[in-house]
Amino acid sequence: MIAENSVKRMTPAIGAEVTGLDVNQLTASELSQLRRLWLQHKVLVIRNQKMSLNQLCDFSGYFGELMQLPYITPVDTHPKIICVQKKADEVNMGVFGGDWHSDFSFLKTPPAASILYAETIPPLGGDTLWANMSLALKNLPSHLLEWVENRNVIHTGAPYGIKNAPAADTQFTGSIEIQRNNPEADREMLHPAIVKHPDTGERSLFISPTYTTGIEGVEPDVGCSVLKELFEFCARPEFFCRLRWSANAVVIWDNRNTMHYAVNDYDGFERRMYRTTIAGQSPISGSA
Ligand SMILES: [Fe+2]
Repeated sequence: MIAENSVKRMTPAIGAEVTGLDVNQLTASELSQLRRLWLQHKVLVIRNQKMSLNQLCDFSGYFGELMQLPYITPVDTHPKIICVQKKADEVNMGVFGGDWHSDFSFLKTPPAASILYAETIPPLGGDTLWANMSLALKNLPSHLLEWVENRNVIHTGAPYGIKNAPAADTQFTGSIEIQRNNPEADREMLHPAIVKHPDTGERSLFISPTYTTGIEGVEPDVGCSVLKELFEFCARPEFFCRLRWSANAVVIWDNRNTMHYAVNDYDGFERRMYRTTIAGQSPISGSA
């Protein structure tokens, strides 16, 4: 059983840390509690876990079916795990996940969840931020709500494509083997701007600054300026939590109602994480 005092919220907006667990030896009751806490808090942090890659897969499998990511070369021995790594000598360059995004939102069926396991962390820096997109929607000013209610937004695999690829000096690179300049990644995928969570029914915004490039039926210039305002609103500190990692921490987050940001402030130090991704379904419109 997970006692009530073993769950500590990270901020009023989002996230909780759970203590007193060994994720390699969870009981059925603890698993169902963890799943409920994950849906409730959107981001769950469990520190001090010693996990092999097989154990990471086993733990991840409790939350759904693991998926293989396109464009990123997985770990040799585990096709459904990627190594998210920046080495100490990779300086003055971007970092994987270094802007607000929801993981792979440009897929027809974006992931339901992502799980990160920290192996090596810098002595300071390398934090991750998550924003609660349900809370952002609840607080959205009416002039912005009008732009997203009953509308689709356009997602593309911008960092992996040609048309919307970021400038070369801001692209993440280095230790992560990534397939770039793939025209397939430029394919536009429409998803509702407001989605309904398949498990809880809660409404949230589903926009992803790294991958969302326009609003369907809106002139590109106008769409871009509305999205910019939306992104800035959603990234307000009132909606997010910030995690100071420790080695052997594992974090699972709901990818359907959050976005996250990997802070790139640890040049000269290594950061290595292992990541699994849980398959999701086509987003369901949450517009009235
Ligand atoms: Fe990410």
